[in-house]
Amino acid sequence: MKIVEIEQLTKKFEKNIAVDNLDLAIEEGQIFGLLGPNGAGKSTTISVLCGLLKKNSGVIRLFGEDQEQHGIEIKQRIGLVPQDIALYNDLSAFENVRFFAGFVWASWEGVGHGSGNGAGIRRISG
Ligand SMILES: Nc1ncnc2c1ncn2[C@@H]1O[C@H](COP(=O)(O)OP(=O)(O)OP(=O)(O)O)[C@@H](O)[C@H]1O
Ligand SMILES: [Mg+2]
Repeated sequence: MKIVEIEQLTKKFEKNIAVDNLDLAIEEGQIFGLLGPNGAGKSTTISVLCGLLKKNSGVIRLFGEDQEQHGIEIKQRIGLVPQDIALYNDLSAFENVRFFAGFVWASWEGVGHGSGNGAGIRRISG
């Protein structure tokens, strides 16, 4: 099954064409690297995929569903680590995870780390 399907995706910032008629397909289980020089449009493509930016044209299907029609359900199934990572230095690793999880889940218990004492989280690396 194709997890990501992009057809003729175009994203413009005024006159600047950041993504120009991109076609892309990624199979389930495939590890895919999107490579290109600075300004090639990698981050823009990912932001459009995740529904953070609106495309100008093209079709995006994630998990076989049209991203425009099923945006909310799709957002619940994907995770994004942004290019500029925004961790709070004065929070512990556990507190950072809990803070960001709070945007998605109303209750931290739903995240699957119910003890709340951070015992399972030792360090963040990479
Ligand atoms: N929010 C924005 N407003 C206006 N132009 C933007 C915006 N974001 C990106 N651009 C422009 O879109 C083009 C693609 O930028 P993008 O950040 O997607 O490239 P990138 O491949 O991720 O680059 P890098 O390797 O530097 O991260 C560039 O010309 C950039 O200046
Ligand atoms: Mg980028």
